[in-house]
Amino acid sequence: MAFTKKTVRDIDVDGKRVLMRVDFNVPLDENGNVTDDTRIKAAIPTIKYLVDHNAKVILMSHLGRPKGDGPEPKLSLKPAADKLRELTGLDVTFVPDTYGDEAKAAADALKPGQVLVLENVRFVKAEKKNDPEIAKTLASLGDIFVLDAFGTAHRAQGSVVGPAAYLPAVAGFLLENEVDTLTGLFGDPDRPFVAILGGSKVSDKIGVIDHLLDSADTLIIGGGMAYTFLAAKGYEVGKSLLQEDWIDRAKDMMKKAEQNGVDLLLPIDTVVADAFDNDANTKVVASDEIPADWQGLDIGPATEKLFGDAIAKANTVFWNGPMGVFEMPSFEHGTKAVAEAIAANDHCKSVIGGGDSVAAINKFGLADKMTFISTGGGASMELVEGKDLPGVEALLDA
Ligand code: 3PG
Repeated sequence: MAFTKKTVRDIDVDGKRVLMRVDFNVPLDENGNVTDDTRIKAAIPTIKYLVDHNAKVILMSHLGRPKGDGPEPKLSLKPAADKLRELTGLDVTFVPDTYGDEAKAAADALKPGQVLVLENVRFVKAEKKNDPEIAKTLASLGDIFVLDAFGTAHRAQGSVVGPAAYLPAVAGFLLENEVDTLTGLFGDPDRPFVAILGGSKVSDKIGVIDHLLDSADTLIIGGGMAYTFLAAKGYEVGKSLLQEDWIDRAKDMMKKAEQNGVDLLLPIDTVVADAFDNDANTKVVASDEIPADWQGLDIGPATEKLFGDAIAKANTVFWNGPMGVFEMPSFEHGTKAVAEAIAANDHCKSVIGGGDSVAAINKFGLADKMTFISTGGGASMELVEGKDLPGVEALLDA
């Protein structure tokens, strides 16, 4: 699916003040060091393009979820600005202000090719409420608005959608690439298209399952949510995670899979434990033989083979959500096996949909084997659900 909005390529940025919303919502350690710079790196192509085209670049982002009652030093964007300077060698300065005179003066003093990072946009409550005054104040800092914050594009907040009401608004390369790749799964994917979903709750992913059943050839379901599907087949699931209220919806999805000719694969065996603990007693049982006092915490070896065989035949793979409690070494095997199966398939395009699956892939050192890893969590899921992202909607049509 082609991207239908204007991008930085479509607008003259020479000598202009370019106000760009990025997603520098990165994890920091207790000393304020950035522990994962993926999102900063992902914004660099657009920043470099703007610098190379003589723009004055003003970057804004949120970091974490501050209360919005004023500055919270632990959630300052200064470490992200320092990391950007270190990664790019560009002339990057940070101003500890967002909406006030100091930010305005720093933006006005910028020279072409320089980059300014503003303080966390969420230090005021008005940002999250998409207050028009916030948008107007931010817009007064720039001549052009660029949205490259894919991870935040599902939030209709002041710095994400607001400036588009006052300035010509276009997309950056990250946003374009993310939207193109994730919506491309629903256009004309190379088949077989195998989608793999995991994670704990069916309720969180029902829209994603529904939409993928219109496009995928095979839908693999693992993780905690699989037990609601197993219950929908009439199996006892013991103390495994179960969303009873969602059993009927799971049945609907199984029916839809059948009607659409989608091969829906569920775990055929399960690693069960007698407690939610890495050191619990464990055993492997068939999925229809889960003992009443035990809980399933990972897929079993026969399921790994079943899922692995489907993945090996795929020409397109989309993966979101772990197969088990991969944070605990005793229950990481199934998630690792899926990650390795994707990595071993060198003819497929592999798209990893953000969140926990990215953490898992990083944990197993397989990130460089994937074709595309989304920088979005909630944003990528909303896109895969078929929803419009308010940030993207606000941009100029191409
Ligand atoms: C994310 O980490 O998913 C984005 O940065 C959005 O953050 P939020 O959920 O706090 O809006």
